[in-house]
Amino acid sequence: MATELSNACCNSEIDRFKGVYKKYKRRDVPLNVQNVIDLHGTSYSDDVISYTLHEPSEKFPGLKPVKDWKAYQLKNCEGFIVINNPFEPKYQRYWVERCLLDFPMKPNRTNLDAHMERPSQVWHSCVETDRPNLRKDSLLMKLRWATLGYQYEWNTKEYFADRVQSFPDDLSHLCTYIAKTLGYSNYSSEAGIVNYYRMESTLMGHTDVSELDKAAPLISFSFGQSCIFLIGGPTKETEPIPVFLNSGDICLMTGNARLSYHAVPRILPGNREHLHACFHGDGGIDVTDDQNVAIHDIDTEHDLDETENDPYSDSVHEKPPVINVIDSMKINQEENTILTPTQSGNRCSVTELGDLMKTVIDGTDWTPFQDYLNVSRVNLNVRQVLKPGLELGSCPDVIKPCDRSVEKT
Ligand code: OGA
Ligand code: MN
Repeated sequence: MATELSNACCNSEIDRFKGVYKKYKRRDVPLNVQNVIDLHGTSYSDDVISYTLHEPSEKFPGLKPVKDWKAYQLKNCEGFIVINNPFEPKYQRYWVERCLLDFPMKPNRTNLDAHMERPSQVWHSCVETDRPNLRKDSLLMKLRWATLGYQYEWNTKEYFADRVQSFPDDLSHLCTYIAKTLGYSNYSSEAGIVNYYRMESTLMGHTDVSELDKAAPLISFSFGQSCIFLIGGPTKETEPIPVFLNSGDICLMTGNARLSYHAVPRILPGNREHLHACFHGDGGIDVTDDQNVAIHDIDTEHDLDETENDPYSDSVHEKPPVINVIDSMKINQEENTILTPTQSGNRCSVTELGDLMKTVIDGTDWTPFQDYLNVSRVNLNVRQVLKPGLELGSCPDVIKPCDRSVEKT
């Protein structure tokens, strides 16, 4: 049965993706990262070339000036670009809080919705006395994805014209700015997916082809722990190239690479100095600080056998969890929605954004977010769905499905 599955998905072409994916995913042998490209390293191999960005005249709140950004392209994968963390110290906090507090709020959909009446604010339902419940069975740790704008339908791999929520202004401003640095002047953020990875989560090889406009780039942000990201080619015949993505990195799939196969076979503990610089930015690490205790000490146990025949259990897009009674009791108390300070970001101008970010960063207790990020990676993935000139909700009823094919053997 397993063989049938792999043949069916690969149409008899040679699959060079799967072997590399499995190599980085497996936990029964020590991980060898020798061939993983580290774009933060000082000596780049011949595989990497620097990428010249356009410099918008204005600065964007919370981002360093574009002249100070470092962007790279892989020689063998034209169009796949990584911008090394361009965020100013502490400013990733704002986006992490958006991803955890606001983006999963109703009416946005999450993986939890299919099987339960969940609290609108998953974060608040799982944070007590300023510490998040990080037990495997907490609702927070069961949260795998949330969708923004066009609510992507994972089962059928479609967007629907009538399943659309307004896209948050702050994120739209950010992506418009980043697209400009790549020379795309009309980028329109229309769909977003927030992926929440635990240390043992993976995302199988797939292409993102459901969007009507395939000329606009995919813009993808990494926050928290690191990962090995595989970037392949138009089919699984191309052997994928592994690169590290670290907190703050922005990964762009443009041009030829827009429709390339890609995957996340492994989440890894991030570098402590790097994480400290991202979220505190005030020089040396205090070794008594909570954030420095946990990251190398995480339970990474993963039972491969248990997931082997289930294509979805392998992924952040896995089947919705079974919800236990304790969680459902919490939900009823939780329906009163708390307005989070960050929510002003949903409707705001670029000029208001700098002050808003400062207010949020200075006014929020970072401790619970830090706790969560010590054992998680958050990926914020933004797409333009429509061809230029169309309005949200004005697309045909069903927009073409994408191929998130299964690559199990
Ligand atoms: C996706 C995706 C990559 C990542 O959500 O489609 O490819 O870096 N995410 O998590
Ligand atoms: Mn993808």
